[in-house]
Amino acid sequence: MLSAINRRVLSILLSCILLVSMLLTGCGAETTQHKPGKIRIGMTLYDQYDTFLSQLAEEFAGQIEPDVELITYNASQSQQTQNSQVRKMIEEGCDVICVNLVDRTDPTAVIDSARKAGVPIVFFNRELVEGDIGRWDKLFYVGADAAQSGIMQGELAARTCLTDRSVDKNLDGIIQYVVLEGEAGHQDSIVRTEYSVNTLMKEGVKVDKLGYAIANWNRAQAQTKTSQFIESFGDSIELILSNNDDMALGAIDAYESSGMIKSGWPVIFGIDGTDVGLEAVRDDKMVGTVYNDKEGQARAMYRLAMLLAKGGSIDELSDEYAVSEGKYIRLPYAKVTAANINSYLGR
Ligand code: BGC
Repeated sequence: MLSAINRRVLSILLSCILLVSMLLTGCGAETTQHKPGKIRIGMTLYDQYDTFLSQLAEEFAGQIEPDVELITYNASQSQQTQNSQVRKMIEEGCDVICVNLVDRTDPTAVIDSARKAGVPIVFFNRELVEGDIGRWDKLFYVGADAAQSGIMQGELAARTCLTDRSVDKNLDGIIQYVVLEGEAGHQDSIVRTEYSVNTLMKEGVKVDKLGYAIANWNRAQAQTKTSQFIESFGDSIELILSNNDDMALGAIDAYESSGMIKSGWPVIFGIDGTDVGLEAVRDDKMVGTVYNDKEGQARAMYRLAMLLAKGGSIDELSDEYAVSEGKYIRLPYAKVTAANINSYLGR
């Protein structure tokens, strides 16, 4: 028989075990059963209807091996929603979480939850600022170098303007252009615009900016804004630089519905090389785009996520990728025109 003292020691011991197991399972939170032996990866997208990201997420899902589970959430453009999704994924036992931030300047709640639970985060596509990524050693970023995409777009546009005299429709020796910009505050909007226009000028093209419009990466918004440009400037727009393919396609939609004959259209350049973007290059509606390597980014994210889930370090990837500051992996962009479109179509 147990003595009163032994019974008391036993009961304290049992309470401790219960407390620890409650803490480990998230204290009464609703959890789905984490299959033993399986690695669980969580992912949240700022907006699952974004063309580029939906293709990137599809590529990522295509990597998942039989002993790995993937849980994906759509934050529907709400940072608050995303914050609670991250908490939920932690409760659901995710070993690592891939976060496409809604508001790249507001990752505090995501970082705090992850850090408290010891779950590493791979941010992607929407880059958090340096001060934030430095807040914990298990925060990483996979993406691309925005400046490089701007430079490549500027080079493509310059080559066309300098070699095809028909671009300068009014023959004034100056290229009248407009810019379609992504979300204000997104690293890829600010930087792409700046580098694209500066490169164009550096390459020796004289330019005259007629206007710019923020169309939030969105095809329909870009169509509306371009229709307004057509109303204001008629056929005097000679070049459209778009921060992504979807907005370039919106511009094409606007010209198609304007009834203007194709020879009156400006030359249009995008960035991304989404399936629809590549088709527009193939069909000679868009002169060129810059390939945003979604396959490469998805592969790098997966390789990194798996390493982190197993307790490994990003340094183990340094033979395959250029890892900078022990935190960043950036995949290179590439120029796409009619000349090399076949090696990109159907990737
Ligand atoms: C892509 C855009 C996309 C945006 C979303 C950019 O890198 O080029 O197409 O809408 O990311 O964050």
